[in-house]
Amino acid sequence: MPGIVIVGTQWGDEGKGKVVDLLSERADVIARYQGGNNAGHTVKFGDRSFILHLVPSGIFWPGKLSVLGSGVVVDPEAMLAEIEALRGDGVEVGANLKVSDQCHLVMPYHKAFDKLREHLRGAGKIGTTGRGIGPAYEDKMARRGVRFGDFQPGYEHELKERLREILEEKNVLLRSHFRSEDALFDVNQIFDGLAALVERCRPFLCDTTRLVNEQLDLGKTVLFEGAQGTHLDVDHGTYPYVTSSSTTAGGACTGCGVGPTRIARVIGIVKAYTTRVGEGYFATEQKDNEVYRTLQTRGQEVGATTGRVRRCGWFDAMVVREAVRVNGIAALAVMKLDVLDTFPTVRLAVAYQDAQGTRFDHVPHWMGQYGAVEPIYEDLPGWQTPIVGITELSKLPQQARAYLNRMEELSGAPISLISTGPRREETILRRPLV
Ligand code: IMP
Repeated sequence: MPGIVIVGTQWGDEGKGKVVDLLSERADVIARYQGGNNAGHTVKFGDRSFILHLVPSGIFWPGKLSVLGSGVVVDPEAMLAEIEALRGDGVEVGANLKVSDQCHLVMPYHKAFDKLREHLRGAGKIGTTGRGIGPAYEDKMARRGVRFGDFQPGYEHELKERLREILEEKNVLLRSHFRSEDALFDVNQIFDGLAALVERCRPFLCDTTRLVNEQLDLGKTVLFEGAQGTHLDVDHGTYPYVTSSSTTAGGACTGCGVGPTRIARVIGIVKAYTTRVGEGYFATEQKDNEVYRTLQTRGQEVGATTGRVRRCGWFDAMVVREAVRVNGIAALAVMKLDVLDTFPTVRLAVAYQDAQGTRFDHVPHWMGQYGAVEPIYEDLPGWQTPIVGITELSKLPQQARAYLNRMEELSGAPISLISTGPRREETILRRPLV
């Protein structure tokens, strides 16, 4: 089995961590291809629970390789802290973790600018995670980025000169644009701080493009683990309320340096309802009502990275259908179905309608339209009985199966896995995922 991509179909936090963890058993390599420590993947097994931000979830499986491809932006300090925390919990992190020497670094000024820019935007803020991810990708595209590989012994002078040029501009922005009184960025301070961190990261650095392709040549299974979700993709998401990377399946190719012909299957992860962290379009959002409170509390919908309470709402078929199309999804895994256990009625948005009564069957692409559409719902009877931990489809109440069947019809891809609880074993495998 060659490359398999795991991708979120909504706005992230769909529960990818659990599926990646389940599939890791049969994979040889687990690779992240984009994003940075803005991501938060929760993995639970036994009585243990871990939140990972950078390290792939495959790290918990002995004998597997975990890879951060060149499309990931890395805050070296955050990565080292995560590695230390994992080791402190008895998880082995050594030769089983490989990080691309082409990864761009999240620099101290990226983190500062992320926060300053959000502050400046005021009410128009994106609601970023404040981890410096957007500014790091900006600099990457503007060819102003600094990569792990730039820290070569003997080339310190060249790198310092580049950094000096970069900082000249950053310091002008800091004072004139952001009107910040913070201390100016200092070349030597930044260089020395980073050089020490990069040295500690060096044992993990390598040419991961070559590594991943070699593994595929050997017939090994590589699981490409997407971060965030389809509608946070910089091209296909609800722009500008998106993250700054390619979260969709195509990002696995560019972010790990593999050809599209290497991808055998794309698996979409979908929450049985919808959540979003940060600002931006969310047609089925429920605010300050009982539905919101039930979804938020039963689903424990709190951001794994920032601790922000997530916005919650009903399932939106347009969002998932578009994700199926953009990613070429062959199978869906439905997560957190048990969160809906108590509702007398469950709702699915099947279309949108604007004030003139025009019907839409797709997510609006323009900001003006975002706020102008209302969802059209289809109501189904709820099952009102606990399904937590059920492992066989036939044991699910008929109403839950009807809800899943409708989700499947509307999404346009078969549902292969249903999650009935956070633990590995709380899973229904309807048909093989791969
Ligand atoms: P950034 O990625 O920090 O620039 O944030 C941009 C948008 O993506 C914000 O709305 C964030 O809340 C959202 N975002 C970033 N990472 C995640 C994630 O892992 N899960 C859910 N939302 C995320």
